[in-house]
Amino acid sequence: MRYYVCTLFPDMIHQIMGTSILGRAEKNGYISVNTVNIRDFSRKNSMRVDDYPYGGGAGMVMEPEPVYQAVQAALQRAEADRRAEASRRAADGRSAGAEQRAELDRRAAEPAQTEESREEKSTPSGRRTRVIYLTPQAKVLDQTLVEELAREEELVLLCGHYEGIDERVLQETVTDYVSIGDYVLTGGELGAAVLMDAVSRFVPGVLHNDESSQFESMQDNLLEYPHFTRPEEWHGRKVPPVLLTGDHGKIEEWRYQQAVARTQERRPDLLKNSFTLHTFWYGPQA
Ligand code: ADE
Repeated sequence: MRYYVCTLFPDMIHQIMGTSILGRAEKNGYISVNTVNIRDFSRKNSMRVDDYPYGGGAGMVMEPEPVYQAVQAALQRAEADRRAEASRRAADGRSAGAEQRAELDRRAAEPAQTEESREEKSTPSGRRTRVIYLTPQAKVLDQTLVEELAREEELVLLCGHYEGIDERVLQETVTDYVSIGDYVLTGGELGAAVLMDAVSRFVPGVLHNDESSQFESMQDNLLEYPHFTRPEEWHGRKVPPVLLTGDHGKIEEWRYQQAVARTQERRPDLLKNSFTLHTFWYGPQA
């Protein structure tokens, strides 16, 4: 997965994404985190990219042109990286089937796109590169969308600041509007980092076996069961005896019950969307 983040604060993105599991994933080549500094496209001596809002009111608005140039730069880098990746795969695939090799070679040899054609041009998977604007004025990111985004090869993320971004450049470049929650942040960077973190977990190789549990939070809209480790008793609290039995059938059943109970208690709104639970209660036909 290749990310291209258009932002006024690239350091913030690299700092978050360079740490822990995501840092390891980038070092090992499972994800790449690229930033485009919107300020680099300022046309002012002050290097500012904001201006007063038409119609008056408080706050500043990010100008369309620097944002547009930054997104175009991100798309161009994405395209160059896609070509490089196709060439690399073609080289790797010399010993693979002739059909696959021919297709990869054909893609690698495609002529560079012109500025005009880029917008309509789709990725090798047949889709246009998604340009995601992080904003509280959007549907809230959930696990379904995370898994959908993880199927892309690349994502361009646009982070706003101040009161927002001139609407016209959003209309011209953005394919998806995503919020990370119903509250307002100072900018889109933390939203972009949240999205990249959640998406990267689904990129093969990012998580090691011991980091990805089969039955995990949000799978089938259930919260995760509680976890315990040594010691067996801590502050007078004992590990549930079933976990010490070694009976994996029983343990699985207990964990499922705990997950349902926890969801019922903390997030009952999720239960109505649980396919497994619905099937359990009403049968497969209902
Ligand atoms: N930018 C500001 N607030 C945000 C939010 N809640 N989600 C995503 N981006 C944002």
